[in-house]
Amino acid sequence: MGNEESSPVDESRPPQTLSERTVKALADYILSGKVSKIVVMTGAGISTSAGIPDFRSPETGLYANLARLNLPYAEAVFDIAYFRENPEPFYALAHELYPGKFRPTVTHSFIRLLYDKGLLLKLFTQNIDCLEREAGVPDDKIVEAHGSFARQSCIDCTRPYPREDIERHINAKEIPRCPVCKGLVKPEIVFFGEQLPAAFFENRTLPMQADLCIVLGTSLSVQPFASLPGMIRESTPRLLINKERVGGLGSGTDDVLLLEDCDSGVRKLAKACGWLEELEALWSKTAPKAAAEVAKASSGLPKTKDEALNDEIDKLTREVDDALNLSKRHEEKVRGEKTSGTSSSRSARKTSSPTSTDPGNLHESADGNLNHIFMPRTVTATLAPADSLHPVDEAKKDITASGGDDKQ
Ligand code: OAD
Ligand code: ZN
Repeated sequence: MGNEESSPVDESRPPQTLSERTVKALADYILSGKVSKIVVMTGAGISTSAGIPDFRSPETGLYANLARLNLPYAEAVFDIAYFRENPEPFYALAHELYPGKFRPTVTHSFIRLLYDKGLLLKLFTQNIDCLEREAGVPDDKIVEAHGSFARQSCIDCTRPYPREDIERHINAKEIPRCPVCKGLVKPEIVFFGEQLPAAFFENRTLPMQADLCIVLGTSLSVQPFASLPGMIRESTPRLLINKERVGGLGSGTDDVLLLEDCDSGVRKLAKACGWLEELEALWSKTAPKAAAEVAKASSGLPKTKDEALNDEIDKLTREVDDALNLSKRHEEKVRGEKTSGTSSSRSARKTSSPTSTDPGNLHESADGNLNHIFMPRTVTATLAPADSLHPVDEAKKDITASGGDDKQ
């Protein structure tokens, strides 16, 4: 399951930025005008209420339910070496998970709301379901750290492969092959053993500029993504909304934890900010309309006069929304995404400590109390050469250390 926890911050240590470690204080901070650069980090937990299972939840997670695919170990379904030999399990899964059937959750809409308010510096997501885009977060605000189903290519000659062709194959439960070299075609999801996209490396120091970090629905057990919350400056508030405590969140002086469902957590924050109605309105604009359109199209029935009128209204609303978003983006550009550059990140600070930079002594940190899984590996990941930065499953690494099978 999730990354083990470091000790929570000593209650007697006062927060540095917030008035107290509560949602109310976070909302006051957001509304104070001091916040304009929020970095959001997400994982599969934000999509479970859309009906997409996460990976590691004990009974409902994907990895607990892959027996039917006859894998040597669960993560093999996303292992590039295994895929080369046995692409069928991945394609069986792709058939179930392929985007288009799922509605964004209220959490996705919350991220969109942050964007609409000009507060979103960047969204780092590990998810491959494209629901952030469907909720209206623009491409240039998203770093899909583990790729997505948005593009596909040949794993041998890297030639792009047409979307409609892969859709046809996935629907028909067939394995697509490159028309040129006959290599396997794979959606550009980052598998274990593959390099993360350039966008991850280009943006991974961006969290140092953030004035708020929100971590949502992730076990933070896959590196190098798991190192991102450690890049946030020490006095910068971090909010974790997750069913369990993960990744050392809660050990910072300005960490706020909501150990609960993401959707209810973002609603609490939105309510405290006075944004709840806006959030619900935004969310109500997501998929049902699209689903109804698909159903209508596939039923072949002509549209009624009212439906045609509604379509026209929707189209106009979308055009107005797009225009507003354009002007917001312009405003953001003018405001600039400048960094203060004065404080160092938690990991930068830790790397200067002799114990945590020493990979041979990773179980202790200079200031004590930090669990060996999170911070030291943060340091390792931060310092590792780029070509070694492909996803590494922390839990699996531990199994490997005690003699398990690992293809990394
Ligand atoms: P995990 O399944 O590892 O973690 C999901 C986290 O979300 C867990 O801590 C759950 O307790 C929590 N959770 C689930 N549903 C929730 C809900 N409704 N509200 C709040 N919390 C909830 O998923 P990720 O952290 O995203 O990599 O996994 C990271 C990577 O591991 C994935 O991107 C994938 C996988 O192997 C690749 O495919 C390369
Ligand atoms: Zn090819």
